[in-house]
Amino acid sequence: MSNKHATLTIEDKSYKLPIIHGTEGDKAVDIRSLRKESGYITLDSGYMNTGSCQSDITFLDGEQGILNYRGYAIEQLAENCSFIEVAYLVLIGELPTRTQLNDFREQLSRFALIHEDMIHFFDHFPPNASPMSILSTMVNTLNNFYPEMTGDTDEELLVVAARLLSKIRTIAAFSYKKSVGHPLIYPRYDLSYCGNFLNMMFDKPVKPYVVHPEVVATLNKLLILHADHEQNCSTSTVRLVGSAGVNLYTSISAGVSALWGPLHGGANTAVIEMLEGIQRDNNDFQKYIDKAKDPNDRFRLSGFGHRVYKTFDPRATIIKQACSKTLEALQVEDPLLNIAMELEKIVRNDDYFVSRNLYPNVDFYSGIIYRAMGIPTNMFTVMFAMGRLPGWISHWNEMMQDSGDRRIGRPRQVYQGAKKRDFVPLHERE
Ligand code: SDX
Repeated sequence: MSNKHATLTIEDKSYKLPIIHGTEGDKAVDIRSLRKESGYITLDSGYMNTGSCQSDITFLDGEQGILNYRGYAIEQLAENCSFIEVAYLVLIGELPTRTQLNDFREQLSRFALIHEDMIHFFDHFPPNASPMSILSTMVNTLNNFYPEMTGDTDEELLVVAARLLSKIRTIAAFSYKKSVGHPLIYPRYDLSYCGNFLNMMFDKPVKPYVVHPEVVATLNKLLILHADHEQNCSTSTVRLVGSAGVNLYTSISAGVSALWGPLHGGANTAVIEMLEGIQRDNNDFQKYIDKAKDPNDRFRLSGFGHRVYKTFDPRATIIKQACSKTLEALQVEDPLLNIAMELEKIVRNDDYFVSRNLYPNVDFYSGIIYRAMGIPTNMFTVMFAMGRLPGWISHWNEMMQDSGDRRIGRPRQVYQGAKKRDFVPLHERE
């Protein structure tokens, strides 16, 4: 393989395929001309080895456990920034100046309300409706109430992003209030992005909610850690749906639906359900370990394993540290934290998991923090979606602005069905 090309030899012919190097060293064989030149396609179920695009937004190194947004390490961003600051970075590509950050904050405040007609939608979901189905529905409906926006300029992109980031926060809080039958608490101009969300969730006419700085700081950190993760399932969904020319709101709604899956963002809810199961089973860890190892059992240990990370998910490391700190600050004792830490210890000392590089991922400890904040388990994936929104918007926009390589996403397949055969009329069929 030369520096610039790979040579593929099939039967008696050789094909030169360009090599592409990423700015942080990832490498790819460019197969865009393969079918035209050789008649062959590649097959890669689950896209384990296949890149769908080139992107400037996020860099992951699964072997080293590295995650950078626009070149900045997640550890530094989580330590020093607000979620809104990181959202601006993921969207625009540069950290905002103080003026740019204040302007963005102003837009978020301006767009915090949802159309009053949208509020009636909440009355028609059944009481036990999943907050993820409500979120996906309401986000899709935004397209009927607000103008379609492009991200052709940074200014336009920031407007459409501020509208979505702000309204999704309001939709999430309103869906919770509706689910518990409490009066809606409207956003306030004087509160920060995270402070407003917490206040809309937990303030009550009979008992005002005190916005706790430690909780706000931890929520900022959690949302930052979820802000983007390159071509994961839901982001790839947003890109694929958007590639058909679908508006941003509807593309994001598709991303919300993909994130809901227990193998993806739904895992943070599944982790708590699993830990509660272990607790109900008197901490019978072995029962869950055996189920996870049983090749005939589809059960997986939620919160462990990752398609890309084959070492600690750097986000899980930060969240685990924040876990103990937040529970201490809130004076919350949660037995599930001890169960989670014991399960992690068992897994990290069991060859089945070690040999498969199965480590805690972003979803393993996050739910324990959300619980301590008072957020219900069925809203944990909504929290993931709120955090992931800057990434979804930025990837949708990067694809839409890619004049050089923008085309509808349409994978190929290898057909293994019946060979061509003639039609048999009904009266001749047995
Ligand atoms: C997220 O892609 C992203 O970036 C996602 C995400 C993001 O920020 O967008 O990081 C967020 O989705 C994190 C992942 C949350 N999901 C879970 O925690 C669900 C539990 N994890 C697994 O289902 C699994 O690890 C996946 C889905 C995360 C990854 O699956 P892969 O890459 O397809 O790996 P695999 O299923 O082929 O597993 C390889 C082996 C198999 O065993 P063998 O066939 O070799 O015998 O590892 C085993 C699997 O059975 N395995 C597990 C396991 N995860 C993998 N066994 C037990 N428990 C697990 N959790």
